[in-house]
Amino acid sequence: MQIQDLKIHGKTFLAPLAGITNLPFRLLVKECGCGVVCSEMISAKGIFYNSENTLKLLTSKHQEQPLSVQIFGCDPDSMAESAKFIQDLKIAAIIDINLGCSVKKVVKQGAGVALMKEPELSKNIFMAVRKAIDLPFTIKLRSGWDYSGEQAFNIAQIAQDCGVNAVIMHPRTASQGFKGRAEWDLIAKLKQQLSIPVIGNGDIHNVEDAKEMMESTCCDGVMVGRAAMGNPFLLSQIDQFLETGSYKKISRHEIFRSMESLICMYVDYFEEGPACKMLRGRLSWFVKAMPGCSEFRKRLASIDSKKAVFALIKEFENSLPSVIK
Ligand SMILES: Cc1cc2nc3c(=O)[nH]c(=O)nc-3n(C[C@H](O)[C@H](O)[C@H](O)COP(=O)(O)O)c2cc1C
Repeated sequence: MQIQDLKIHGKTFLAPLAGITNLPFRLLVKECGCGVVCSEMISAKGIFYNSENTLKLLTSKHQEQPLSVQIFGCDPDSMAESAKFIQDLKIAAIIDINLGCSVKKVVKQGAGVALMKEPELSKNIFMAVRKAIDLPFTIKLRSGWDYSGEQAFNIAQIAQDCGVNAVIMHPRTASQGFKGRAEWDLIAKLKQQLSIPVIGNGDIHNVEDAKEMMESTCCDGVMVGRAAMGNPFLLSQIDQFLETGSYKKISRHEIFRSMESLICMYVDYFEEGPACKMLRGRLSWFVKAMPGCSEFRKRLASIDSKKAVFALIKEFENSLPSVIK
């Protein structure tokens, strides 16, 4: 697949997930294998006003390339300036604009999915950002503010006409949040309408779902969010499955080593105390189907050092029946 002049190996995109797709997690997914990793959404205003917390989100390493950096906001000038700022940092292979976030504090300021009610404003943002950057430029949208999909088709057409290079669609409305099922037939319809690549997103839980989405919608690539949170290998498995019809199963050993790798990267990035706190929830996602995982999760809740979490993981790994190790 190609987005503007960017050639992408594979068809998988790690979805932007606020609080999750930070640098350590992106590096882990990339290490396991994946087409493109996306940053969590980053406030254009935060960049504009040099917020320290926001600028930290722009930390990157070359190993994670190609990286898509997602920004959110609703003011064309600050969106364009932020996009140019990111381009000048030379960390992004793609700049993406968020038209999908339905979280109250984002919507209240007129950003995220609220832009889907504002085709004129969206157009001004697309034009301003397109003028400011040469990098490949994508948007990620929902099916609409309310039901029908019409808003998505309208906004996506405007985006294509303004020079946006690909559209990512999560076919749920704002009010649906994450409820119900993603309406994949809207992805198929959008693919028929546009000449730029369309990337489908929503409810891909395993390799078979990804194949089904590709076949039933003819989309150019798939984006995976929640299912990757506890399985960093999934995107690589999807790429293998799409290409060859089979994929390498991941051993328990590899899962535990990936957890250790994530811990080390979290500690490097966030420092030990905060890293251990953040990892308490996240590590249990990796083992949620294993026997004894609820006890492991409980014990994780009091972990506050890298040494202790490594020891707990070893103990849990050794406690598993050998047949499933
Ligand atoms: C915890 C969480 C954080 C998210 N953060 C973002 C975000 O920063 N930007 C964005 O465009 N979408 C965000 N999303 C939406 C996902 O990118 C994706 O569209 C959605 O989860 C559907 O895909 P999935 O079924 O593969 O998870 C988030 C979703 C979750 C669950």
